[in-house]
Amino acid sequence: MNLIAKTFQGLEDELAKEITSLGGREVRVLKRAVSFTGDKALLYRVNLSAATALRVLVHLFEFRFYDQKSYYRQMREFRWEQHMHVDNTFAIDAVVQSKVFPHTRMAMYKAKDAIVDRFRDRTGRRPNVATREEDVRIHVFVKDRKARVYLDSSGSSLHLRGYKRRVGVAPLNEVLAAGLLRLSDWDATLPLIDPMCGSGTIPIEAALMAARQPVNALRSFGFMKWLSFEETIWNKVYQQAMDEAIEADCVILGGDKQARMIEVARANATRGGVERLVHFEHRDMKDWDRNGNPGVLLFNPPYDKRMEEADVRAFYHDIGDILKQNWQAHTAWMITANLDALKFVGLKASRRIPLFNGPLESRLVRYELYKGRKEGII
Ligand SMILES: C[S@@+](CC[C@H](N)C(=O)[O-])C[C@H]1O[C@@H](n2cnc3c(N)ncnc32)[C@H](O)[C@@H]1O
Repeated sequence: MNLIAKTFQGLEDELAKEITSLGGREVRVLKRAVSFTGDKALLYRVNLSAATALRVLVHLFEFRFYDQKSYYRQMREFRWEQHMHVDNTFAIDAVVQSKVFPHTRMAMYKAKDAIVDRFRDRTGRRPNVATREEDVRIHVFVKDRKARVYLDSSGSSLHLRGYKRRVGVAPLNEVLAAGLLRLSDWDATLPLIDPMCGSGTIPIEAALMAARQPVNALRSFGFMKWLSFEETIWNKVYQQAMDEAIEADCVILGGDKQARMIEVARANATRGGVERLVHFEHRDMKDWDRNGNPGVLLFNPPYDKRMEEADVRAFYHDIGDILKQNWQAHTAWMITANLDALKFVGLKASRRIPLFNGPLESRLVRYELYKGRKEGII
């Protein structure tokens, strides 16, 4: 099978490494995605365990067309009945850049008509288009006069791990958190601390990574509703991934100044099965007592559009002071989309990694906070 896993811009290399270690072949880095080949077991494994994948698509077919008619005809000629049942509901996503279609919706409607018409001709009945929670999700990419068609094996986005029921105002996306951890090179030998942990995403993802637990063991996937789903293969893949988990021995801490968020983070960690590995404290970032003990900080400060510009700048300035004074001997990684406020931290970053949090251009920056020194240096 030819497969494509999607991710955030800036995490492609991390995803490629994960897919390679899970057994993917012919792994190639694309923009916001990684292409690879593999069998059904690999497809299931990547959905279950690749922490930096947002969704995994299976290539079905591709064709050239001249006009809307030839596009419709070729869509209709494909043997859809091999992939879905007339009783399945389906949905189509399309990304279209072509003069043949005045707008994206037109390419979606034509594809939908082709599938419905094929089933109606063959069975006298038609599958229904779902508005949500469809059985089968189809992705169509149209560029000029070429169409590529994929099946979405994940269903809902893979950041929906299943451990979060409650979140704060601006929870970090789980896939992004997993990517930040991999970019930070944290290897579980030093303590990891998120002093602004909100709903606990970073500590929970860190614990899953340290314990080598499959990140998506709590959820179901689109491929489970496919005609081709093989439960015995899935059970084997699942069991193998669970058996590979280890008893991790590391320190992972989360803190937040809001008591309510600490309750939420604890509940999420319990649901994620990692409560033994993470410890949450209701505490302001400036009140931790870890000065001089080596460790890694990873956090995303609030990014609140309602905050006045001067307040945001002052807030980032305070973060810089707190890092210098209270977190010596730590490496601090911080991600933010507020590139202006970042300048006010007042520390020299030893790395700046551009990333996209969805459409938001962000930076992951690293500050080395040397012991006994008041400033971070390169
Ligand atoms: C953008 S949210 C973090 C989201 C988190 N990563 C998650 O996945 O839910 C920022 C958090 O920082 C907390 N916060 C703000 N100032 C703080 C401070 N001085 N000390 C500790 N926590 C703080 C807020 O209460 C908020 O929960």
